Amino acid sequence: MLGLWGQRLPAAWVLLLLPFLPLLLLAAPAPHRASYKPVIVVHGLFDSSYSFRHLLEYINETHPGTVVTVLDLFDGRESLRPLWEQVQGFREAVVPIMAKAPQGVHLICYSQGGLVCRALLSVMDDHNVDSFISLSSPQMGQYGDTDYLKWLFPTSMRSNLYRICYSPWGQEFSICNYWHDPHHDDLYLNASSFLALINGERDHPNATVWRKNFLRVGHLVLIGGPDDGVITPWQSSFFGFYDANETVLEMEEQLVYLRDSFGLKTLLARGAIVRCPMAGISHTAWHSNRTLYETCIEPWLS
Ligand SMILES: *[C@@H]1O[C@H](CO)[C@@H](O)[C@H](O)[C@H]1NC(C)=O
Ligand SMILES: *[C@@H]1O[C@H](CO)[C@@H](O)[C@H](O)[C@H]1NC(C)=O
Ligand SMILES: *[C@@H]1O[C@H](CO)[C@@H](O)[C@H](O)[C@H]1NC(C)=O
Ligand SMILES: *[C@@H]1O[C@H](CO)[C@@H](O)[C@H](O)[C@H]1NC(C)=O
Ligand SMILES: *[C@@H]1O[C@H](CO)[C@@H](O)[C@H](O)[C@H]1NC(C)=O
Repeated sequence: MLGLWGQRLPAAWVLLLLPFLPLLLLAAPAPHRASYKPVIVVHGLFDSSYSFRHLLEYINETHPGTVVTVLDLFDGRESLRPLWEQVQGFREAVVPIMAKAPQGVHLICYSQGGLVCRALLSVMDDHNVDSFISLSSPQMGQYGDTDYLKWLFPTSMRSNLYRICYSPWGQEFSICNYWHDPHHDDLYLNASSFLALINGERDHPNATVWRKNFLRVGHLVLIGGPDDGVITPWQSSFFGFYDANETVLEMEEQLVYLRDSFGLKTLLARGAIVRCPMAGISHTAWHSNRTLYETCIEPWLS
């Protein structure tokens, strides 16, 4: 008898609970809603948060409920301010967002913003960045006089810009902070107050700490492509750059990689570097191309 009761009792309980089942299911957390990490977006040169409206729509559509913050700092011409000043400003803006996200955050950083973000990862010893998505960003520098440079320095050809950029005055412009003239390596190493430091190309007291900080990142997602038209060489988006003969050497052939001076080699060995090259996208189309979003960005926004 007891055995029979033992079998029937559960069945009876289920029957009693049946009317409340819809309520119970509603109360249970739906697995697909399991909170997505907040996304922080940093814009590029002469750019502002407005250009990211399509990206925001995509994220809202595919990952509903994600908290996305497009930082409206150093917009338009203000984006020419020295990069260290911008890093300080963006740092103050990301600290509270990170503090509210114990699971971590994702960074999507476009063009020049990609360098601001890399510096943030280096100087913040408490950052919790899971995916750092570098969207067509001149990570190894820029050596090309595209339209925006002609507007800024009308008389300077690209082979002469080093005279301005590698002076203390020049380093007051963001563009000069990552101007990388392959024909004046010694001047670059000496004068670059930003790129040569975050690359660990010029030694400085914080280099070891910065490298350690940078290596806290979960994934480094590099996006760029041959039809960009502004980033020169376009392989700079993937840590490739010109040698003294203007032949592009890939990341694995770069001294900063071989010396692992800021952590690239370690990240690659860990399987943490994702390279996503995309043809057919011009520089100003990176933040609104849906194919690109689905292929290169969405998979890394968990
Ligand atoms: C996100 O999507 C929902 C549902 O489609 C819509 O109601 C809402 O306005 C969207 N929010 C943004 C910020 O796009
Ligand atoms: C660099 O190191 C010095 C001395 O340890 C420290 O005071 C300073 O805050 C560090 N700067 C950065 C940007 O990490
Ligand atoms: C590097 O900078 C130092 C001090 O700023 C200067 O004395 C030296 O001549 C520079 N070297 C080169 C190659 O420009
Ligand atoms: C550049 O090319 C010249 C001639 O082809 C060659 O002698 C030289 O070694 C090259 N330099 C570099 C840095 O590759
Ligand atoms: C979007 O990206 C795809 C794939 O790279 C490319 O073929 C297409 O032309 C792009 N569309 C626009 C509008 O840039």
